[in-house]
Amino acid sequence: MKGISFATATRRDLEHCVEIMMDSILGEEYFSRELAVALIAQGISRKEITAARGPEGEMLGFFRLVLDGVFLVFAYVHLFAVKSSHRGIGIGSQLLAEAERQIRKEESYPDIKKSFLLVGKLNRKAKAFYEKHGYTRIATMHDLFSKGDTEFLMMKELALGKIKAAKA
Ligand SMILES: CC(C)(COP(=O)(O)OP(=O)(O)OC[C@H]1O[C@@H](n2cnc3c(N)ncnc32)[C@H](O)[C@@H]1OP(=O)(O)O)[C@@H](O)C(=O)NCCC(=O)NCCS
Repeated sequence: MKGISFATATRRDLEHCVEIMMDSILGEEYFSRELAVALIAQGISRKEITAARGPEGEMLGFFRLVLDGVFLVFAYVHLFAVKSSHRGIGIGSQLLAEAERQIRKEESYPDIKKSFLLVGKLNRKAKAFYEKHGYTRIATMHDLFSKGDTEFLMMKELALGKIKAAKA
């Protein structure tokens, strides 16, 4: 989809993020509205949420990125969702590319940049989406968020930009 822009989410975006999240498998399987509000509000206050907006400024999706969310040094993409009416037209792909751009540009140890995320075993569509974008399953975790819940830990090693690669 053309005309998408990205920006750090603010308090004004809270309700839109919550609506998008509750109208997805994340709201159906993992989070109550109360918990969604708390997590997104925390992400906004830490400037960890990036919102994708359409040409009219309407929010179409978001992700939360914690740059040191894995082993205190690697990036963790948490809460990733596209508005249900706008899925399948490339917004998720653009959001993921934006998350990876933010990870690559971070000047921190180590130089090698990796992106991690979790996807539920039952969320086949999202797993296929991540695989198509170069993520591979590196671990399977049983009973992670609740008894009977199986989550796949997925990872992608990100190629560095030319300038960073030359410095490394
Ligand atoms: C998973 C999710 C984020 C993907 O976002 P999306 O915007 O639908 O993703 P994209 O449109 O970029 O890609 C999805 C599909 O649309 C296709 N597509 C991409 N660009 C397209 C375009 N311009 N026109 C038509 N189709 C397109 C892709 O080929 C892909 O097809 P696939 O069915 O073979 O995978 C979205 O489905 C979602 O929000 N799901 C609910 C929440 C969720 O599960 N989050 C992940 C938690 S771990």
